[in-house]
Amino acid sequence: QGRIHQFKLVLLGESAVGKSSNGDNGDWRMECQDLWAVSFNHTHCFLSISLVMRFVKDHFDEYRESTIGAAFLAQTITLDDNTVVKFEIWDTAGQERYKSLAPMYYRGANCAVVMYDITQSSSLDKAKMWVDELQRQAEPDIVIALCGNKTDLESRRVVETSVARAYAEENGLLFIETSAKSAHNVSDLFTMIAKRMPLD
Ligand code: GTP
Ligand code: MG
Repeated sequence: QGRIHQFKLVLLGESAVGKSSNGDNGDWRMECQDLWAVSFNHTHCFLSISLVMRFVKDHFDEYRESTIGAAFLAQTITLDDNTVVKFEIWDTAGQERYKSLAPMYYRGANCAVVMYDITQSSSLDKAKMWVDELQRQAEPDIVIALCGNKTDLESRRVVETSVARAYAEENGLLFIETSAKSAHNVSDLFTMIAKRMPLD
């Protein structure tokens, strides 16, 4: 096993697209306490990360509490060539009243996941706004992935894959569709980003 490559990853997107979900998961609280120094406030210790929860804990929670401020979690993945990539994941709050906090979290970020909900076209518009903001204000070499979540709700889909993929290609973004609920493509999202990061 070689050296660990560490990156800061920020999750952005409209409220309720599925970035996080409520959970009183003991492990997460413990990790949150360990990371107390970087945590925004104590409230975070009772919030968990839904897509990230699926990725880190392989767990999904139907009932959620909207994220307050932001929440933090770390996860390590090992690529096929044994490269170890550690993501420090900042899950931001999508509600409009927290919008002004976002720069604090994307500043210095190496990568970003901008998420929308495939059943809400307004959430793709919001995602495009985040992409514009990141491209103007974040690190110039930031790797951005556009992620359409809730693929388990295929019957309610309003955002066509081809439309979102075309937008992603035009704007130099990675693109994937996921379901935090079914776990579809969740680890692939993070692996895809890890493979794109500079690993030397
Ligand atoms: P904010 O914290 O307010 O920004 O919202 P968020 O983007 O973190 O949304 P959250 O993860 O809290 O999820 C919102 C709702 O969508 C919750 O009821 C989740 O259970 C649900 N949800 C999240 N991901 C999925 C998914 O993949 N499929 C389905 N069917 N529901 C999902
Ligand atoms: Mg959240």
